[in-house]
Amino acid sequence: MPAYKQLGSIPPKRHIAHRREGGHKGEGIYYEEVVTTAGFGRAYSIVYHLRPPTRVTKVEAAASVPLEIVPQTVLRHHHLRSGKMPKSGDPISGRVPVLVNDDVILSRCRPAQAQDELFRNASADEIVFVHHGKGTLHTMFGPLPFRACDYIVIPRTTTYRIVFEGDADLLVIEAAGTVRVPPQYLNPDGQLRMGAPYSERDLHGPTQLHFIDKAEPTPVVIKDGQHLTRYVLGQHPFDVVGWDGMVYPFTFNADDFEPITGKIHQPPPVHQTFEAPGFVVCTFAPRMLDTHPDAIKVPYAHSNVHSDEVLYYVRGKFGSRRGVEESSFTLHPRGIPHGPHPGTIVASRDVKSTDELAVMLDTFKPLLLTKQALEMDDAGYPFSWSDG
Ligand SMILES: [Fe+2]
Repeated sequence: MPAYKQLGSIPPKRHIAHRREGGHKGEGIYYEEVVTTAGFGRAYSIVYHLRPPTRVTKVEAAASVPLEIVPQTVLRHHHLRSGKMPKSGDPISGRVPVLVNDDVILSRCRPAQAQDELFRNASADEIVFVHHGKGTLHTMFGPLPFRACDYIVIPRTTTYRIVFEGDADLLVIEAAGTVRVPPQYLNPDGQLRMGAPYSERDLHGPTQLHFIDKAEPTPVVIKDGQHLTRYVLGQHPFDVVGWDGMVYPFTFNADDFEPITGKIHQPPPVHQTFEAPGFVVCTFAPRMLDTHPDAIKVPYAHSNVHSDEVLYYVRGKFGSRRGVEESSFTLHPRGIPHGPHPGTIVASRDVKSTDELAVMLDTFKPLLLTKQALEMDDAGYPFSWSDG
């Protein structure tokens, strides 16, 4: 979780009257909404609304968003090229699920239009990686600007509209569990440790409120598993005068990751950025390569016997891979070793640094491919280690 934060007007103690005293709409109180995680057991925020957040005038089914999973009878490596995926939908409806299990849905999104209705994901914390684009995430916590290569972490049940200035190209990670800073990066006092690959200064939450006073019907589309429900609220939900706590959306830019390098090759855990139950997210950021005079500067062949390993290639040239391009995915599943492509060990011998940027997702349950993923599949990839 990011550090405790407070914005706007809050009373001196929790759960006491926060009086309006002639401000908005005359005298009365602001209405408290407590956003909790893990029941009431872990991080929470307390938000103060002008009107009760519980006022709803209509509830209706909106749509279903079925996952079209194609069972695979052959276990093999996959290379999925998503760079030419056509634009479609908006930043929510345009999401194309690619790899899925009970813990995570990994999607690509190249929206063709702006997000019209407010959206809330009831089933997942979201990490939206902005491959290309910039804009603002609008929530009741205040506007949150973002830019290319930001991870935008959006806690579940956050109502939002994501607005882009120009085109957008996104990688979307929906986590069934809670997305957290890896606990090994935290000292016993809860602060990011000296030596962790980022610090609190690199996590950016909202810095101001944008109070919206509209007592008119406002639809919010809520995602619950594979179903969408449209709630029509009696007012705009961003009628917030203040909040405090540790549950709020924040950004972290992949180029702010501080790579840990060494005399010899460092294993993927040094790249870990976030984690959630069932998977980790890692950032392969530009970095100096290993300094031992005989260091082999590309990863050794390895079998992750308990993991499926996904890499999403953002930019730069990958020393260990041939044939991948920007927006490629590689999926290296459990049970089969993978490693550097032929010729890459020799080619990297005199290289001092790499400009590669990639996002990695390692899952502990097998990943399933969707119909849309198979449309991007490079069928020759499993044999790409044998041609040199
Ligand atoms: Fe690997």
